[in-house]
Amino acid sequence: MIVKTFILALLVPSIDALLRFSCSQLVVERLDPLVNPGVTQSPHVHQIIGGNSFNISMDPSVSPADQATCTTCTFAEDFSNYWTAILYFKARNGTFKRVPQKGNVGFESSNGGMTVYYTPTLASAAGKYVTAFQKGFRMIVGNPTYRTEAEAKKFRQLTYTCLQNMNTRTDETLYFPKKSCPAGIMVNVRFPTCWDGKNLDSPDHMSHVAYPTSGTFENNGPCPSTHPVKLPQLFYEVIFATEKFANEWPTDGSQPFVWSFGDTTGYGNHGDYVFGWKGDALQKAMDTNCNINCPALKTQSIATGNKCAQSQKVKEDVDGWLTELPGGMPVG
Ligand SMILES: *[C@@H]1O[C@H](CO)[C@@H](O)[C@H](O)[C@H]1NC(C)=O
Ligand SMILES: *[C@@H]1O[C@H](CO)[C@@H](O)[C@H](O)[C@H]1NC(C)=O
Repeated sequence: MIVKTFILALLVPSIDALLRFSCSQLVVERLDPLVNPGVTQSPHVHQIIGGNSFNISMDPSVSPADQATCTTCTFAEDFSNYWTAILYFKARNGTFKRVPQKGNVGFESSNGGMTVYYTPTLASAAGKYVTAFQKGFRMIVGNPTYRTEAEAKKFRQLTYTCLQNMNTRTDETLYFPKKSCPAGIMVNVRFPTCWDGKNLDSPDHMSHVAYPTSGTFENNGPCPSTHPVKLPQLFYEVIFATEKFANEWPTDGSQPFVWSFGDTTGYGNHGDYVFGWKGDALQKAMDTNCNINCPALKTQSIATGNKCAQSQKVKEDVDGWLTELPGGMPVG
């Protein structure tokens, strides 16, 4: 199934204003303070970006903005943590090699990481803006156990773009591209945009948020009565430099990439979010309908963001030619 493109970030007119910024890699390791708090280590590897208060456990009553001393994001008041799983290349001899992430258009000097978007609603035309996430807010979208299209369709807009060049923004699929992509694979993670207005988190880290009852955030679909509060559209683009392996594809033509949780289909795509903006900086940015640049926010250079790195809390080789996926995750 081909999903139509919803956002053409660089072409969006100012009425569809959005924050678009770069966050470099903070650390790559097997930790997950949302799904496996206190557990060293979590089952699969993640790339984490954002504030350096990321930890094995993260107490929701403490704001990352009060604990972190730096952030990898170019908006300097954003100490949130954002993470996804990472990709491995499976070589013909059966070993696995991590596929590096690379910076997006305009953010080429970023050390891996992601591009993060927060989009205020189109209802801005009516003078009504979104309610920003608040201290203690967390959520997850997607499910790493999914391996079928029917399952993946339960989540809207978790997709892959086969980059013909760095500006390709069409023909998103729910599954991994089946051919080598000349400029890499972009993973697109769009979160639900309706909130129950009460719970900052929920046992499954999902049921406190919902999708619009019809349509999408971008075409201003209404929120369900159970989740009436409209949130910004949080959206990650993660670009994996899969083109580095173009000459080493399997002889049978099958696609050789596998998520760090063992998925070769792509249907298990998922992402995690722990809110950590300082004070009401994000709400201000949404209220002023900032577009890309935001005078209301403090910024820092990509080079400064690149310097804010964490070392792994539990040392593990995630980068060599590995005989199995880290944590022994089975492939399939
Ligand atoms: C992580 O948590 C441990 C244990 O609570 C604490 O000692 C350490 O300072 C924390 N690290 C960061 C970066 O917050
Ligand atoms: C497996 O293949 C990769 C890619 O060709 C190569 O770099 C690596 O050294 C090989 N490992 C073994 C154990 O043969």
